Amino acid sequence: MNKDLMIEKTKLFVKDKLEYEGSGHDWFHIERVYKLAKYIAQKENADSFIVEMSALLHDIDDWKFSNTNDTKTTVTENFLKSINIDNESFKKIIKIIQTISFKGGVVDSTQHTIEGKVVQDADRLDAIGAIGIARAFTYGGSKSRIIYDPNLKPIDFKSLNEVKNSQNHTINHFYEKLLKLKDLMNTNTAKEIAQKRHKFMEDFLNVFYSEWNFNEQY
Ligand code: ADP
Ligand code: NI
Repeated sequence: MNKDLMIEKTKLFVKDKLEYEGSGHDWFHIERVYKLAKYIAQKENADSFIVEMSALLHDIDDWKFSNTNDTKTTVTENFLKSINIDNESFKKIIKIIQTISFKGGVVDSTQHTIEGKVVQDADRLDAIGAIGIARAFTYGGSKSRIIYDPNLKPIDFKSLNEVKNSQNHTINHFYEKLLKLKDLMNTNTAKEIAQKRHKFMEDFLNVFYSEWNFNEQY
């Protein structure tokens, strides 16, 4: 099977699996990350095939939806075997997928290849800006979290279980993760895109607090 066909098969596989996912990992998230990753890969001279495949498959075996905190990628591995991908590509893609996730900042997600850096940047870009804000509240809603509680102190997570089970308000997620992402981008291409998205989140939070405290200017 040639590489273009493999990518098309992967798109169909992922679309079928994630079409109705309701916590912000739906097919459209994958499609946005895929397009961003492809764009950044071209700018940064990364191997487009590895980047495209990893972007498409990065949320198939998500740690948050399993009962354990391991990084098993069984579904992805079985799929890659089913399309007879070469061994070298298999290893590269699995390595990226197993290490890409932020996981509350409590595990090492450093990427050592340009392909991993590109996919991680694309996934992180989709977590910030207007889309990032929408996704945060969607995720929070899926966990029955409230929008904001000024009496709750910000939590600094120490373990994966704390990240997974916290009953914090969703505004806290901006401080534990979203506002940190701009400085965690790997590539210059992503750093540039992140500036605007970051500024939009800061503006959003300022307006949010001023509405909350009813101190808008009329
Ligand atoms: P990553 O792949 O970096 O681990 P996640 O899978 O944790 O990203 O997050 C998927 C989406 O859900 C992102 O937009 C993220 O910001 C959002 N999200 C994750 N955890 C929370 C949370 N505790 N509160 C609100 N949004 C969250
Ligand atoms: Ni993702």
